Amino acid sequence: MQTDRKAQELWSHRSVFILALMGSSVGLGNIWKFPYLTSEQGGGTFVLLYLACVLLVGVPMMKAEVLLGRHTRSNPVQAMRLLSREAGVSERWRILGWLAVLTGVLIFSFYAVVAAWIFYYVFSLSAGLLADAGWEQSNNFFSRMLADPDTLLTSHTLFMLVVLLILGAGVRRGLDRAIRYLMPLMLLLVLILLVYAYQSGYFWQAYQQLFQFRPERIDGAMVLAALGHAFFTLSLGTGAVMTYGAYLSRKESIGQAVACVGVLDTLLALLIGMVIFPVLLAAQMPSTSGPELLFISLPVAFGQLHAGQVLCVMFFLLVGVAAVTSAISLMEPFTALLEQQWGLRRVVAAVISVATAWCMSLAVLFSFGHLAGVTWYGMNLFELLNFVTTYFLLPLVSLAIMVFTGWILSRRITQSELTLSVPGYYLWRLCLRYLVPLAIGLIFLTNLYNVSF
Ligand code: PFF
Ligand code: NA
Repeated sequence: MQTDRKAQELWSHRSVFILALMGSSVGLGNIWKFPYLTSEQGGGTFVLLYLACVLLVGVPMMKAEVLLGRHTRSNPVQAMRLLSREAGVSERWRILGWLAVLTGVLIFSFYAVVAAWIFYYVFSLSAGLLADAGWEQSNNFFSRMLADPDTLLTSHTLFMLVVLLILGAGVRRGLDRAIRYLMPLMLLLVLILLVYAYQSGYFWQAYQQLFQFRPERIDGAMVLAALGHAFFTLSLGTGAVMTYGAYLSRKESIGQAVACVGVLDTLLALLIGMVIFPVLLAAQMPSTSGPELLFISLPVAFGQLHAGQVLCVMFFLLVGVAAVTSAISLMEPFTALLEQQWGLRRVVAAVISVATAWCMSLAVLFSFGHLAGVTWYGMNLFELLNFVTTYFLLPLVSLAIMVFTGWILSRRITQSELTLSVPGYYLWRLCLRYLVPLAIGLIFLTNLYNVSF
């Protein structure tokens, strides 16, 4: 349908597309959320549920998003408009595109806050500020940062500038190039940290802790947590994957690339768990849950081990890189929308989108300090945004996209874009049309029934 974009706006190579999707999916979700969700939700039971969600829901959904993006070569709003026109249904489906873009910006506004903490940690850890700190000291350090507007603002703005720099340079010169440097760096850091964790002597103990299976602990809330996290960790429901798909050449196979990314994202979450937990065990730190796992316990634990300080800097550098490669994908749909919808120049579109997000994010930045008293149902703004996006917006937007792709879009389009084997295609369609909507519906109903608010 749409003419192919000029070469400048496509990924330079198929492998860069895979790396870009991987960069988007591997982020704070894998390193910061997954370990604490796992320790909070009961180890291996949660991990298995999460794996089931990734395979049965996440991967089929990801294929759908890539195919919608590539078929239309457009940002989510324009894509939904073109697709509904092609399918002969109301163009109101474009609202779904807007909802996806909005969800991405909302996620970005709390994502950037954690990224700001990470940036601050990279600098202060390299300066040796937490050398030989005990738990008490580390705890104070973290609280002091949360209450210090200058520090927060500086690193928050720095993070925004990095994102702006990459987005502003465009697809080929910005995203493509950044990904080609950052992803190898990220993988190298993971490898070094893994070797280090392995020789700590607590590798297998951590493994058991991570994979211990206790089926009696499964309940509706845990299933919803696993489902929400599957969407979050694979970057689904925000149009990020759709927009990245728009830059993929027509010659490439979608199915393989997506399966690759699904597996790698999960693998990285588990491998990073296999860095964090052995280090905590070796330093005999209790496995705390919640955000403090990364920001309070881990620096102390690293500090007690041989060469731990250097490795700790490496660890936070890894988190920083992962946060940047995800953040650019969160803002790319909005930037592409501004660029294509209103014919803005790339740089201008990037400035507007990042500036909007910066403003929105400011309130979140202070939600642990000056605005800590502002709460809804006991959640501060940060927690509220995290909750609403992960447990409502992502599953609902994703569900709508799947229903659209499975039931409304013609088979001719999906089949020709996906080029799967015949059984593979039917399996995919089965998931999209029946399995997934049913599962998401059931999960929601159980939780509405259980949650009383
Ligand atoms: N997948 C990212 C992570 O696990 O950290 C977060 C994310 C990125 C969510 C991009 C949504 C998105 F569009
Ligand atoms: Na992820």
